This record gives sequence, C-alpha cells and structure tokens, in this order.
Amino acid sequence: MSKLIINGPKKLEGEIDLYGAKNAVLPIMAATVLNGGKNVIKNCPSLADVHSTFKILEDLGCTVDYKNRIAIIDSYGINDFCIKENLMREMRSSIIFLGAIIARCRKAVISYPGGCELGPRPIDLHLKAFKQLGVEIEESHGYISCKVDKIKPQNLHLFFPSVGATENIMLLSTISDGETIITNAAKEPEIVDLQNYLNSMGAKITGAGSEIISIKGVKELHDTEHSVMPDRIVASTYICATACCGGEIVLKNANSLHMQSILVLLREAGINAEQSGKNLNISCKKRLTSASAIKTMPYPGFPTDAQAITMSVFSKSIGTTVFVENMFENRFKHVEELIRMGADITVDGRVAVIKGVKNQLGASVNASDLRGGAALVIAGLGALGITEISNIHHIDRGYENIESEFSKLGADIYRISE
Ligand code: EPZ
Repeated sequence: MSKLIINGPKKLEGEIDLYGAKNAVLPIMAATVLNGGKNVIKNCPSLADVHSTFKILEDLGCTVDYKNRIAIIDSYGINDFCIKENLMREMRSSIIFLGAIIARCRKAVISYPGGCELGPRPIDLHLKAFKQLGVEIEESHGYISCKVDKIKPQNLHLFFPSVGATENIMLLSTISDGETIITNAAKEPEIVDLQNYLNSMGAKITGAGSEIISIKGVKELHDTEHSVMPDRIVASTYICATACCGGEIVLKNANSLHMQSILVLLREAGINAEQSGKNLNISCKKRLTSASAIKTMPYPGFPTDAQAITMSVFSKSIGTTVFVENMFENRFKHVEELIRMGADITVDGRVAVIKGVKNQLGASVNASDLRGGAALVIAGLGALGITEISNIHHIDRGYENIESEFSKLGADIYRISE
C-alpha cells in the first residue's frame, strides 16, 4: 500500500491545468455502449475509477485505447450484457452502465452495487423508472436481471433529484420511439455534459441543467468526439488548499459558474477569486473567518462532494462553522482524522460543529473515502510538520497524481510505497 508524506505548511503558487470531470466522464463512457461505433473522448482523466470503467467496457466486448488523456472507445463488438461481480464491487457507480446495456442489448445482468464508504447507496429510483419505461426486473441472490422488448417512453417524476437515476433514464431512453420527460431531474453540470455528449451522437435531448429534461427518442446513434467538462470538485480542492495554505494560484479552464456555492462561501470567508477568460485566479493572504452554516444540497446548492475539503479550511478559520450533511448518512469519516491533527470538531448525527483553531499539526492519518482523503491532503498541506496519509487508493479514484499536481504549486508532498 502507498502513503502520502506532506511537510507543511507551504504557500501555494502557480498554475494548474484542470482535467476532465470524473462524474461527467463515467456516464459518458457508459453512453459509448449505445452507438456501436467509435467514440473519441478528450480531456479524459487518468483516474482509478476511469481505468475500472475501461475494464468494464473491454469485458463487454468494446475496444479501448487510452493515451495522453484521450480515450478512443469502439463499442461495435459488444458481445455481453453482464457486468461481473468483481468489477461491480470495484466501483459502485458502475450502476450507470445499466441503462446503456439494456438499451443496446435489450437485457442486462449486474450484481447489486451495494453500499460504499458513504453509507447505503440505494438504487430504488433507478429501478422504479426502468419499470415505468417497460423494463422487466428480477432481483434475486444479489443480482439484478433486466430485459425489455420495447422501451415505453413516459413522463417520469423523480421523488429525489438523483444524479445517477437522471443519467440512467437518459441513457435508457435515448434510443426509443417517443418522448420521455423527467421532472425533478438532477441539475448537476455533469448531466449537461452527458446531454451534450449524447446529442453529439445524434440524440435529441433538451433541458439538462434544469429540473425538466426531454428525451425525444431516435432510431440510432453515430460516431462522435467530445471533450469532457473540467472537474469542478477537483478545482474546488485546489481552491480549498490555497485557502488553507495561503498563496496565489491560477486554475486554467475552470468554470466558476459551476462552483458558485463554494466561491461565494469562501469569498465571504476572505479569499479572492476572479474569473478572467478561461482562467480562475485564486489568492488568499490572511486567516479566514468562519462561515455560518454549510448545508449540503442537490445542485446548485452546496455540493456534498465539497463538504470534507471545505471542512479542512474552516478547521483553521476564526470562529465557529456548522456543517449539515443532508445527502449521505456516513460522510464525516474524515472528522476523527482532522481531530488527530488538532481540529476542534463535534459531530452529532448529520451535524458537525467546527471551532477554528490557529494551527493544525501534522499527524499520521487514514483516508477512508475519496473526498475525505482529499480533505486530509488539504489539512496536511496547511499543517505544521509532517503528515502521513495511508489508504490513498481512495484518493487515486478521483485525483490524477495528486502529489505531483500539488508539488507543481510548491507543496512538499511525495508518495512512498510501503
Ligand atoms: C453522484 O452519485 C456522484 N457520483 C457523487 O459523487 C455525488 O456525491 C452524488 O451524485 C451527489 O451529488 C457520480 O456521479 C459517479 P445520487 P449518485 O443518486 O448518482 C439517494 C464523488 O465523490 N438515492 O444523486 O450515486 C442516495 O442515497 C461521488 O465523486 C436514493 O435514495 O448520487 C443519496 O442520499 C460520491 N435512491 C442521494 O439520493 C436512488 O435510487 C443522492 O444520490 C438513488 C439515490
């Protein structure tokens, strides 16, 4: 197992070229199953979750070539409709393949994705929508078997604006003979990127980014090429690191419109953030003041994926900040580790109260999930002394070479294999 070693604190200075968003490229790679042709995906990040997805695509019979953040996926040769259990377990979000495989093969078999470090990850909204679209579903012995003769376009209402369920409905209903309308759809920017990708293949989808999405079914789809949108959570991670360490960075190809809830919060706390053309200039020259209450919500509310990384920032601010994690049951695992580094945090259920301390101190800590691990990196970069982070495979799921990226900004951080 590898570890990250950080010697802090160091001010951050320099430029970062943002790579494509993990949560956009995963559903986009599922969409490549639909056209039975060639898909050129640019700005495709080299992440563990992306490489897990390549394995699923190859297992289904696709060919995958990947070099210099360009993935070429040809789905002509698909010869299977099952995702093997070990691949499903490797990455919970493989559920996003279900709609695309059913649409291409008229059947699919996957093992139940099960929970993850964040707590239970139910898929009831996905399966309910699939049944309404005419899919027959059998759940037994931990497997979900689906089959359909003909998709029945419908008006579908989501009782919760689930990102994955919205994306799965779009993937399943793109090839059909009628219009499917989703109300109370998730509005995340990654869903707009998926709509743009599907439309570039010949789909007729409108409304992504709003709560009502229309999918006018088409008969077939063609080859395509697409550049993935920049990763707003990775960008937010660099912003939080600068807020924690002080300094001045430029995020190239960052879209501040995707990060308004975080930028407004951190500007009020004392950072400077200016979008100029395609770049976002961030600077922090003083200790931040606390925010009032941060409640995670569906987009455009404060993103749950930015909760942990922002908590590292307010662990060192002046005053008290209250976090409420509304999206996942178990997304405070990083709190114990931040406390080991000197943070003053009290958790009660979904509420965490953070009293800012002047300095955090380096310590040996343990990553237990993707964004919690990133939070420990941020805390370590701004802490006095040495921080050792273990179980960093969680971090590699969503960050490309995190140590070399932060080293470019002047951080003293390196990876050791144990
Ligand atoms: C996506 O997960 C993201 N993952 C998550 O990012 C992100 O935290 C989440 O959206 C919320 O923004 C990807 O896009 C690959 P949801 P997803 O369905 O689709 C409940 C990261 O760190 N729900 O919007 O699984 C669910 O339990 C990851 O990059 C149901 O009840 O999220 C949760 O409480 C972590 N039934 C809430 O909805 C369902 O059928 C949000 O889930 C589906 C979801």
